[in-house]
Amino acid sequence: MAFALHHKKAWLGTLAVVAVGCAAVVGAYVYQPAIPPIARPDPSDFSPAEVARGEQLAAIGDCAVCHTQTGGAVFAGSRPLATPFGTVFSSNITPDVDTGIGDWSAAAFRRTMKDGVRRDGAYLYPAFPYNHFTNASDSDIDAIYAFLMSRDAVSAPKPANQLIPPLGFRPVLAGWNLLFLRHDKPKDMGKHSDEWERGRYLVNGLGHCGGCHTPRNLLGAEESGKALTGGTAEGYRAPPLDHSNPMAASWTADALFHYLKTGEDPAHGAAAGPMAPVTQELARVNDHDVHAIAVYIASLMEGDDGAEDSAIDEKHEASKAASPTNSQAEGAMLFAGSCGGCHGDDTPMQRSGQRAPLSVVTALSQDDPSNAIQALMKGIGPAKGAGSYMPAFRDSLDDQDMAALLNYARQNFADKPGWDNLEKKVSEIRKEDQE
Ligand code: HEC
Ligand code: HEC
Ligand code: HEC
Repeated sequence: MAFALHHKKAWLGTLAVVAVGCAAVVGAYVYQPAIPPIARPDPSDFSPAEVARGEQLAAIGDCAVCHTQTGGAVFAGSRPLATPFGTVFSSNITPDVDTGIGDWSAAAFRRTMKDGVRRDGAYLYPAFPYNHFTNASDSDIDAIYAFLMSRDAVSAPKPANQLIPPLGFRPVLAGWNLLFLRHDKPKDMGKHSDEWERGRYLVNGLGHCGGCHTPRNLLGAEESGKALTGGTAEGYRAPPLDHSNPMAASWTADALFHYLKTGEDPAHGAAAGPMAPVTQELARVNDHDVHAIAVYIASLMEGDDGAEDSAIDEKHEASKAASPTNSQAEGAMLFAGSCGGCHGDDTPMQRSGQRAPLSVVTALSQDDPSNAIQALMKGIGPAKGAGSYMPAFRDSLDDQDMAALLNYARQNFADKPGWDNLEKKVSEIRKEDQE
């Protein structure tokens, strides 16, 4: 889920060549010893307090999101994750001895979370975000172990990954780890509150926010030096979480807390696409930790070089001549008919104040139209405490109508010039969704 599907061909070629090179270079390091199996621990070996703590930490880490198949048992795995290199299936992490992690010691589990190496010594694919989990403390990892080992065992074998050669060969991952897996201590960032430090620890560790919000290089690794500056996930744009977020000025710690905890903020809009399950997990996490995450992200959004950004923005805007066309009039008409009932002035949805007006949503302000298109294709689910939802228009609007509508909405609500080549982008996203 963490990889985007763009530039598939370029990725494949480059990756294949580099992967072979890496495998050859690090041949000497590619085998890790197996850690001996143990008898399945008895759930009563763990204190209820530790299990409860582990449950919260597992929610912050989204373990259930990736390790549960649609309609399947929680943590039993087999969820297919699309990557530019093929499909990786998540593993069964229930304590089943034959198909899950029932015979794993705490030490074996810790090595998996920190190094991405399985109990039997095989390397795991970085679709599993161990590059972030490696920043978690041993005691937090042990609490997650206690929680998982106290779940019901479910028998469910993991389907074989479907990756392009030679990537199906796990030892090539030793090369990837050598290049990209960092075990450094976090940089000293000067004096900050305990809450800020807690937020930083959770965001960069178990929360793995960078798994989606950081851009990736051609080898699928997060680009160093660009942490949280915006990335892609499952055909969506994961907006920047620093000062370059187009709505940075209005994202306060309290607004972020509300958004992360409920999946919606009346001053910013809904958490759609792959962000929705993240907020559903955070809804179960204690307020203290979610607030810490919010405080840390708010400090990144504050930044201090906003002035430079807006100068670039203006130049960019000036270069796009606003040319009113027929499609604008067409967009206005379509909007009144299909969207005005909810998004128009003084409609019940707007009067209730629980749902954001389109003038504040990031989806319409950012340079990448993906999220606005996805909202139209798939709709937006109801949020906690706000019943209204948006239907999917995939079947009722064609590419041309969608483009006209969205450019009308961007001009009218975000006050920005329409997106270029929008119809083409709409048709690309429609195609990817059908794949
Ligand atoms: C973004 C998706 C994603 C998230 C989030 C995620 N995992 Fe995974 N995990 C995977 C995938 C995919 C694999 C299998 C990778 C492979 O085949 O190499 C995996 C493998 C594992 C394994 C190895 C088990 C085995 O026998 O192969 C363990 C243990 C594990 N994950 C634990 C966790 C825990 C604990 C969390 C939460 C803190 C978590 N994962 C969150 C995707 C994810
Ligand atoms: C699986 C991918 C994924 C992960 C993991 C993820 N996000 Fe997101 N996030 C997204 C996407 C996609 C969006 C855009 C959603 C939309 O358009 O409604 C988003 C939106 C957001 C927004 C709203 C930004 C805006 O301006 O509208 C915030 C804030 C946010 N994420 C914070 C976080 C934090 C904090 C974490 C880690 C605890 C995190 N995200 C983890 C994918 C992800
Ligand atoms: C039945 C009510 C309803 C209708 C009809 C509707 N929407 Fe929405 N729309 C919502 C709700 C609820 C949200 C989530 C709250 C928010 O972000 O404003 C939303 C959000 C959006 C977003 C922001 C998506 C995001 O990721 O933040 C866009 C863009 C949007 N709608 C465009 C449209 C367009 C264009 C139409 C007409 C084709 C339309 N909507 C029709 C209810 C509706």
